[in-house]
Amino acid sequence: MKKILITGATGYVGRRLKDTLLDRPDISIRLLVRNKKKLRAFVLDKVEIVEGDTYDKVILRKALEGIDIAYYMIHSMGSGANFEDLDRISAENFREACIESGVKRVIYLGGLGEKGTASKHLLSRIETGEVLSARPDKLQVIWFRCGIIIGSGSASFEILRNLVEKLPIMVTPKWVDTLSQPISIQDALDYLIAAIDLETQKSIIVDIGVDHPISFRDMIKETAKAMGFRRVIIPIPVLTPRLSSYWVILFTPVPYHIVAPLIEGLKSETLVLSNYAPRYFPNIKPIGIREAVKAAIDEMVNDQVISRWCDSSAREVCDITGHDNTATAILRDKRRFFFDDISPENIFKSFTSIGGDFGWFTYNILWRIRGYIDKIMGGPGLNRGRRRSSGNLRVGDAIDFWKVADVRENERLLLFSQMKQFGKAWLEFNIEGGTLVQTAHYYPQGFLGRVYWFFLTPFHSMIFGSLGKKIIEHARYLESQENNK
Ligand SMILES: NC(=O)c1ccc[n+]([C@@H]2O[C@H](COP(=O)([O-])OP(=O)(O)OC[C@H]3O[C@@H](n4cnc5c(N)ncnc54)[C@H](OP(=O)(O)O)[C@@H]3O)[C@@H](O)[C@H]2O)c1
Repeated sequence: MKKILITGATGYVGRRLKDTLLDRPDISIRLLVRNKKKLRAFVLDKVEIVEGDTYDKVILRKALEGIDIAYYMIHSMGSGANFEDLDRISAENFREACIESGVKRVIYLGGLGEKGTASKHLLSRIETGEVLSARPDKLQVIWFRCGIIIGSGSASFEILRNLVEKLPIMVTPKWVDTLSQPISIQDALDYLIAAIDLETQKSIIVDIGVDHPISFRDMIKETAKAMGFRRVIIPIPVLTPRLSSYWVILFTPVPYHIVAPLIEGLKSETLVLSNYAPRYFPNIKPIGIREAVKAAIDEMVNDQVISRWCDSSAREVCDITGHDNTATAILRDKRRFFFDDISPENIFKSFTSIGGDFGWFTYNILWRIRGYIDKIMGGPGLNRGRRRSSGNLRVGDAIDFWKVADVRENERLLLFSQMKQFGKAWLEFNIEGGTLVQTAHYYPQGFLGRVYWFFLTPFHSMIFGSLGKKIIEHARYLESQENNK
């Protein structure tokens, strides 16, 4: 039985990779994660976990002990200005620990593109591949390179989908005709998994993508067709990458620090430069763009989005580590709502369906206004949405401008606010016997923090006063639906 380590298993690609490999009887899986609370209970039952990061050499040795094949699905994009240094150190530590532990193969997924024209972000992905592959005599590396990933919840697809959905006439930069070869998330996973059984001892770089290059203009048109729209595209020369990024963040949930490198990357072609993919993986035939878009949309419609671009904890946009403790808060709005006649299961279902397309139970207009203010101030706003319309929440999930900091089945939901504000805020729902306890916690930063809280007090009275009642009303509705079945 092969022993496999997956890193980045709480990120966009790694989570899907882990889910796909979970039930294979011929392999045993270990995960290296920074926060094991981000994994659901059934995963914890099936895999071995090492908690920590790649900057800790002792943890790395523990994670890699006895491992045959290790997936390197980590990147530090969004961790701040020094992300390249972090990526380099992380890859060096990982390579050395793999060699020390006798790992036979590392599988890495980087980006398509050439050094001469690469963005800062892509350069760092290339450097990571080079660092991992720097000791070919001691460690074999299968380095996949792919362009845009088309899949529900991927940052590039979310941008594409939101622009197509919201803009009948699209003003684009002049490099809308740049060619690229995207790949569906399913095909990318197929390659990553097939690399486990690949019969070669050599380190290789395998470029993967759809068979025929496509321009961004055609990609937008294909996405529109798959979504049932017709869209007009008008390229204008004055749109710089920076202006385009500001334009894009107005209409999509993806924040500037992720949009900017993606837009910068669109200026250069990202094409498959070798025939290694069909040579080493002849059984994988990548699907076309329209099919990939359809598959991504189907996943969204059917509530089967496994991972999203905002799952990882990079910087404040997604960070929840250490935010599951409300003890530091000094201002609170605590309310109790009684529900003797309803099951706790339905109360839990009700408050865990909050946010996204479902809305905020009450005063949605005020939540939307707060969302716009947040977006203008550089926060995530409301349009980040959420992964599912109901249930199945896990720690780290984004819900509009909140992140799930703790969730306990039929008991508790704790949301940590990622709004731009003067302090830290949480919203908590607890089931205590026949009572729903709803608490807004706030830790004000300085004088402005206190002014902010007291300025909002009348709005809080309106919103929080009716929120709990509406949650119970919705739970009662769920209960009646169940009883009518
Ligand atoms: N997503 C795409 O569209 C795309 C396209 C082309 C190539 N790729 C490549 O695919 C790979 C994975 O990308 P992704 O989009 O899945 O990334 P992601 O969603 O940002 O996830 C990154 C993962 O790495 C973990 N991580 C970060 N730093 C770590 C550290 N020092 N130690 C341990 N874990 C750490 C994060 O853990 P936390 O959950 O704790 O933050 C998270 O699980 C990258 O190499 C990327 O270049 C992705």
